[in-house]
Amino acid sequence: MKGVILAGGSGTRLHPLTRITNKHLLPIYDRPMVTYAIEALVKAGITEMMVVTGGTHAGEFLRLLGNGHEYGIDRLFYAYQERPGGIAEALGLAERFVDGDPVVVMLADNIVERSLAPAAANFADQDKGARILLSPIEEASHLRHLGVPELDDDGRVVKIIEKPEDPPSNFGVTGIYFYDATVFDIIPTLEPSGRGELEITDVNNWFVSQKTMQYDVLEGFWGDAGESIEAYYEVNDFVRSHGANKD
Ligand code: TTP
Repeated sequence: MKGVILAGGSGTRLHPLTRITNKHLLPIYDRPMVTYAIEALVKAGITEMMVVTGGTHAGEFLRLLGNGHEYGIDRLFYAYQERPGGIAEALGLAERFVDGDPVVVMLADNIVERSLAPAAANFADQDKGARILLSPIEEASHLRHLGVPELDDDGRVVKIIEKPEDPPSNFGVTGIYFYDATVFDIIPTLEPSGRGELEITDVNNWFVSQKTMQYDVLEGFWGDAGESIEAYYEVNDFVRSHGANKD
């Protein structure tokens, strides 16, 4: 399985910090944010990875990560996204790198407490389709900022709703996605959303419509450090006291 880390975007919710650097280079506790996503994938057994980034600070990723060996990566590739055209567009840039293999995609502002290895093993056992990771979230006010799955009586995902007014379940869709190679056939068929982006939720809902979407519920803490300045500090505090990517 190959790994793709998405570290482009504009990071407007963390302005003005992100006017002067890329969000994923900001510190979480004692190291740059992007290194946590890299560690999460390496600990899940991924040895070939592509980092997709953009903007004026893309060069700093090379300075930080180099050839990746120090981080446990065998082969590290980079792609440059010309403009922040959405998560699905950024993933599309990795098509030739992924080259027909299964792929795990992680947003570089997501931080997890526990290992992704069990989910990766579950996806390896899945014969086709996609797999998402859900995080239990109680507060409706938080769910209204996330993608939220509607589940049927058997617990299958019926639909993922982005930023629902009335959240249909108590789970948030995290920024960790597993796909088979068909994902690269879907991305070119997407239409830009109202905000002008190719949306990963549209990709995920395509797999839902094919009945090939499965999920795991993530154990332990999950944080999106780019959600707000409050969330950024909440993630910092958590990692400082409890660590991340633990077995
Ligand atoms: P978002 O948080 O949805 O977007 P953003 O990072 O541009 O932030 P904001 O909404 O505050 O302006 O994106 C989640 C992650 O996806 C982000 O951490 C990096 C990645 N991403 C890309 O790689 N390319 C893109 O075009 C976008 C929109 C996001």
